[in-house]
Amino acid sequence: YRMSRLIVISNRVSVPKAAGAAGAQGGLAVALNSALREHRGIWFGWSGQETQEFTGHLDMQRNDDVTTATIDLEPQDIDEYYNGYANRTLWPLFHFRIDLTEYNRDFGEGYERVNRRFADSVHPLIEPDDLVWVHDYHLLPLGSMLRAKGVNNRMGLFLHTPWPPTRLLVSLPFHEKLVTSMLEYDVIGFQTTEWLESFLHYVQKELGLKVNLDNSISYQGRRVVARAFPIGIDHAEFTEAAASEEAQEAHDRLKSSVRGRKLLIGVDRLDYSKGLGERFQSFGRFLTDHPAEAGAVVLLQIAPPSRGDVASYQQIREDLERKTGHINGAHADVAFVPIRYVNRGYPRAQLAGFYRAANIGLVTPLRDGMNLVAKEFVAAQDPEDPGVLILSQFAGAALQLTDALLVNPHSVEHVSEAIRRALDMPLAERQRRHAKLLASVRDFDVIHWRNAFVSALEGKGNNGGRNA
Ligand code: G6P
Repeated sequence: YRMSRLIVISNRVSVPKAAGAAGAQGGLAVALNSALREHRGIWFGWSGQETQEFTGHLDMQRNDDVTTATIDLEPQDIDEYYNGYANRTLWPLFHFRIDLTEYNRDFGEGYERVNRRFADSVHPLIEPDDLVWVHDYHLLPLGSMLRAKGVNNRMGLFLHTPWPPTRLLVSLPFHEKLVTSMLEYDVIGFQTTEWLESFLHYVQKELGLKVNLDNSISYQGRRVVARAFPIGIDHAEFTEAAASEEAQEAHDRLKSSVRGRKLLIGVDRLDYSKGLGERFQSFGRFLTDHPAEAGAVVLLQIAPPSRGDVASYQQIREDLERKTGHINGAHADVAFVPIRYVNRGYPRAQLAGFYRAANIGLVTPLRDGMNLVAKEFVAAQDPEDPGVLILSQFAGAALQLTDALLVNPHSVEHVSEAIRRALDMPLAERQRRHAKLLASVRDFDVIHWRNAFVSALEGKGNNGGRNA
């Protein structure tokens, strides 16, 4: 048995241990690095760089274990495809925010153009036995464009975000065309059964297709497999980082700075889907409800800025600055400030140390495909004296991490009560909950995720009807 080569394609390609490690890395980049390490193959995508005129030139780099191939994009591409259709149309729509979703024909055209450019550029790299694995909302039609160029390989798509309810999705012009193009993949993967169910609902109601008992879709004589593959962290690697000297130093530095106060921690890209405003207000409510605690707790929010060219991101940033100032102004005293709000990223080892120093992890997105911060927080804890995870019921992770304190992030009262409960939680209960959470994080790690997806992609002798 010979392991097939993997061609991984995503908008964002991140090189291990590069400067980006301290930036605003999303779950995708973190997970794919780990997933690719043990697999021969190539990771293809956008360099993140701008060029005046698109040439399609491939920049190939061989790092420790992963070969990357990247292209630069033109300013108009970046505007219409990345800032436009991906981040002003699909991202808000897929996170249930049709109020923020912009429908602009130029965005759609730019999206198609860049997907075609991706297809043109990656096509020569694909050999007959390769498995092609496309990632995320930036590249939904890429598979169909590769098919049009004659690529007959097994191809899969994994969506890292939620999939929206049908009644929201139909607000997107040309939604049928977009979703139909996805059916050229052999495997379509989602983070949770909830997103999967929404997708299958759409396929039946709007496309009138038949969904078989095994959730596969019959389409033009082929069988398209749709399944949930919940993503995980690289538990082994993260545990090692958490045991490093760098993590210990970060832990000690933070711990001594809070001077015996209880520490709550949040770590999120600065994104409106993360529920940061609601989180700050919940913490403010907690301080109002428990004035005696004001000097005894501190919230550290690490929020590296993200997608700063998009207006809704500039707005959420201003909104959070106002809220932080307001809450700190109301509850600070001469010797302490309740919220430490930090707009930068940290290397993973240091984050692990910060998580370990915290009594509570606050992970309260309004919508999230999965959320790997929740899993990293669990993995970083001291099992003898673990912190408590407060987790939004609207994060994909809530379907697996059922021993966290699950909350409705829209309710400041609910979250404030969860903070109270977490602070009062007896050691035995913390240990019991943590042990269960850790077992799930450890067993369903990123390697498990990759293996599950790749074996579905291999189809184990089933070519989905192609080349039949
Ligand atoms: C989420 C998305 C990823 C994206 C990441 C960071 O995790 O699912 O596709 O890469 O956010 O966002 P950015 O726009 O900086 O790539």
